[in-house]
Amino acid sequence: MRLLVTGGAGFIGSAFLRRTLRGNTYTALCNADKLTYAGNLENLPGAAGDARYSLERVDIADAEEVERVFASFRPDAVVHFAAESHVDRSILSPEPVVRTNVHGTFTLLEAARRHGTPRFVHVSTDEVYGSIDEPHDADESYPLVTASPYSASKAGSDLLALSYAKTYKMNISVTRASNNYGPYQFPEKLIPLMIANALEGKELPVYGDGQQIRDWLYVDDHCSAIEAVLHKGRAGEVYNIGGSRALPNLDVVRRILEATGRGPELIKYVADRPGHDRRYAITSDKVKRETGWKPAMEFEAGLAATVNWYRDNPQWIANVRSGAYREFYEKNYAGR
Ligand code: NAD
Ligand code: DAU
Repeated sequence: MRLLVTGGAGFIGSAFLRRTLRGNTYTALCNADKLTYAGNLENLPGAAGDARYSLERVDIADAEEVERVFASFRPDAVVHFAAESHVDRSILSPEPVVRTNVHGTFTLLEAARRHGTPRFVHVSTDEVYGSIDEPHDADESYPLVTASPYSASKAGSDLLALSYAKTYKMNISVTRASNNYGPYQFPEKLIPLMIANALEGKELPVYGDGQQIRDWLYVDDHCSAIEAVLHKGRAGEVYNIGGSRALPNLDVVRRILEATGRGPELIKYVADRPGHDRRYAITSDKVKRETGWKPAMEFEAGLAATVNWYRDNPQWIANVRSGAYREFYEKNYAGR
């Protein structure tokens, strides 16, 4: 199977590529990535030396570039991760978010339609359900109630993907996962930012009262679920993927302080995020029932592994914060 992965240099896409390159299910893996600030080829050690792997530095919202990739690579399946993924950035600067997440997804769907691509998995988020009041959890039929430009753009792209499944009878599934954490996550999201700051003895900015609830999913569990949906998911269906570990943000921050040997004096309460969703909560019964997937990582072990990874990789943190990995790109990939 020839698999086209979009956004494979990002946090989750790179975990997915590392996983698939370890196995032998795919004969060719093409990574279509624009390499924005969030795309980092250091996340893919060894990939460039694997004959099955290729990189296409493309913008998914550019129809000509996307057509060239589909025509030359001829994918049997697409797993679409590429997105502007950070809520705070989407509030500060919505334009690239709408462009990549909505128009980029549309451009890929159109290319897949033209080329008769047999399978397409659109990777989305539980944020599309918005804030869920206790004691409810959202299943896949829950209404979409979005707060940020990011979640609205993801909801729009989900609906586009589902419309292509229905109208053009394409074999497309949508996944909606909860908050991912793990190695190689850009230090702008809660867990990696707090770990990186704690390791350096910097303040940990907690929005509002810190009692917002998120459900935490280890990135490798997310990737195994996506692969299960790729092979066993049904056309036109949505699959929630949760970690079944809901925690208030402050609880997560305190655990990070403990794991890094720092004290609570580093916590700094700052202004709340505009439109901040209070609680995310989903059920994952459908993906478990239909594909047999279940998560393997307990939060305590996953957080410990993540803290250790950041502690062992200060240069990675320094590089992504400074943008130095661009030099790595020029040195290792120029001309490819
Ligand atoms: P990320 O920000 O770490 O990586 C995004 C990747 O997409 C980067 O490699 C970037 O270079 C690439 N990209 C951005 N714009 C592009 C464009 N126009 N053309 C081509 N490539 C482009 O994101 P992530 O956290 O790995 O998220 C991956 C996907 O999973 C996203 O679709 C996101 O909505 C979804 N998701 C993320 C989470 C999470 O907790 N991080 C949870 C659920 C779903
Ligand atoms: O739910 C899935 C979503 O999870 C994904 O679709 C998004 O791509 C991903 O970014 C994430 O969105 P969140 O907004 O939930 O994640 P973030 O890490 O930005 O924030 C998690 C919580 O922590 C949220 O309640 C805001 C809070 N927070 C975040 C940061 C960066 C803080 O209190 N301080 C911070 O500095």
